Amino acid sequence: MRPRVFVTRAIASDAVAMLRRHAEIEVWPRATPPPYAQILRRARAVEALLTMVTDRIDAALIAAAPKLRVISNLAVGLDNIDVAAASAAGIAVGHTPGVLTEATADLAFALLMATARRIAEGDREVRAGKWQTWGPSVLLGQDVWGATLGIIGWGQIGRAMARRGLGFNMRVLYASRSSHDSIAGAKRLPMARLLRESDFVSLHVPLTPQTRGLIGTKELATMKRGAILINTARGGVVDQRALYRALKSGHLAGAGLDVTTPEPIASNDPHLKLPNVVITPHIGSASYTSRNRMAEIATDNIIEVLRGRLPRFCANPEVTLRSG
Ligand code: GLV
Repeated sequence: MRPRVFVTRAIASDAVAMLRRHAEIEVWPRATPPPYAQILRRARAVEALLTMVTDRIDAALIAAAPKLRVISNLAVGLDNIDVAAASAAGIAVGHTPGVLTEATADLAFALLMATARRIAEGDREVRAGKWQTWGPSVLLGQDVWGATLGIIGWGQIGRAMARRGLGFNMRVLYASRSSHDSIAGAKRLPMARLLRESDFVSLHVPLTPQTRGLIGTKELATMKRGAILINTARGGVVDQRALYRALKSGHLAGAGLDVTTPEPIASNDPHLKLPNVVITPHIGSASYTSRNRMAEIATDNIIEVLRGRLPRFCANPEVTLRSG
């Protein structure tokens, strides 16, 4: 019998066609994620799941999936998947690093520019018919050129953000727990010092038990008065209530958030009332090229496991694959 795969959202059709050569495919037909119970129902019968960041793949779901051999996430982040439970069950976990690096750094820099120069606010004013005249003090913002950019997390995306900052003549600082290669012109500092010295702080860490709430009241208070926080990593890295207080009090001049807690952000969330906050709906990797490449890699990660090999981009290479 051909193996079965459940794909939790429509992805690039070429990638699905490729997967169809190897397996029976069911693609969730709606634009919104399948409820947990629906994924659980499919998980009981399939060899592979192709999942999104919106899908919670926890230990209970994994325990209920006797045939499952691979969980392939259409993302670089893996905080939606219990990777340890998958490894213990002999299930490979695949993800899509590399191909979304530049798109995500582009979006982080776009949020930095948008908050610094109040682009979304300006657009809202124009649309609301409030553009009365050129004014010497209308919508004044912060300089980007030559300012100090602090990057927390020095993986591929953090370093791609650094290259953008250097291109804007910024002083680039970074804080990292691991010692990845440096980039000429970027300076490594302890996080507290980075927070004290940066005009812009951009987050590029995965969400793990160690990074949950990494930026809380104390860290926000350590940031310069008038600084701007950019988060394209995961909402959980920031204590969002503390962020609101720092913005409301005027300690921070703004925030650019592509990720929030929860997602989507609640329609009555007080951040939505703050003019100096720009929020995008988790679109860091949402360029045509990146999403096509992510779909190719995510399907290829499944095909490799169906052939008895580890995924090319495997989050748990130590796993002993269960037999098919
Ligand atoms: C998106 O958030 C990703 O992790 O790829």
